[in-house]
Amino acid sequence: MIEVDASTRTLSVDIGGSGVKVMILDTSGNPLSERFRVNTPQPPIPGSILNAISQLALSVGEFDRISVGFPGVVRNGVTETAVNLHPDWIGFDLAGELSKQLQKPVRVINDADMQGLGTIAGKGVELVITLGTGFGSALFIDGRLVPNLEMGHHRFRKGESYEQQLGRFTLEKIGEQKWNQRLGKAISSLQYLFNYDFLYIGGGEAKLVNIQLPANVKIVSNLNGLLGGIALWRM
Ligand code: BGC
Repeated sequence: MIEVDASTRTLSVDIGGSGVKVMILDTSGNPLSERFRVNTPQPPIPGSILNAISQLALSVGEFDRISVGFPGVVRNGVTETAVNLHPDWIGFDLAGELSKQLQKPVRVINDADMQGLGTIAGKGVELVITLGTGFGSALFIDGRLVPNLEMGHHRFRKGESYEQQLGRFTLEKIGEQKWNQRLGKAISSLQYLFNYDFLYIGGGEAKLVNIQLPANVKIVSNLNGLLGGIALWRM
């Protein structure tokens, strides 16, 4: 255990299918450093991603604890799925290994859940989706997380999942216009299913959204993925 006070510095890490990003935050979630990013090492196996994080940690400065958003199901710091990374992550003790490597306490959560923690208002039913390499999703009820919602791999249309229809690979294949039309259909489908009060859209590709959005749907900064790293220690 570490003593947490106003000067506690958190290294927030976002592991993605195309980039690994880090930033240092204060206990209110204000950035204390720039955002540093490296391309996700290939093949994206645990050892090389841990090394990438350690390298980034060296350039970013001092910190007391670490928060990690991981693109798969995470339970008790152990990664259970990693569709866009590598099968070696299945059953990997990410929190334990990173803590051993950097000698600091570590908490790990699904990346969309972390994005959500940095985004939500904490009232009613709030759904978060992230558009990047994969399709992330997070659900909150009055600020409480329903962990590891894997909407991305759920059937959406034409026999394909949300991720197959809207992931980066498909975006590059079908182009922005068609992708935006599909996104509109996905928003209708999610509203119909969840009857959410708010839907937030984040992730690296959210900047490409150009359709008219309903009043209860908002584009949010991808930076929230890192800012959620503070709320993770209050759970
Ligand atoms: C994973 C999710 C993740 C999303 C965004 C999906 O492929 O299954 O856990 O949140 O990608 O990275």
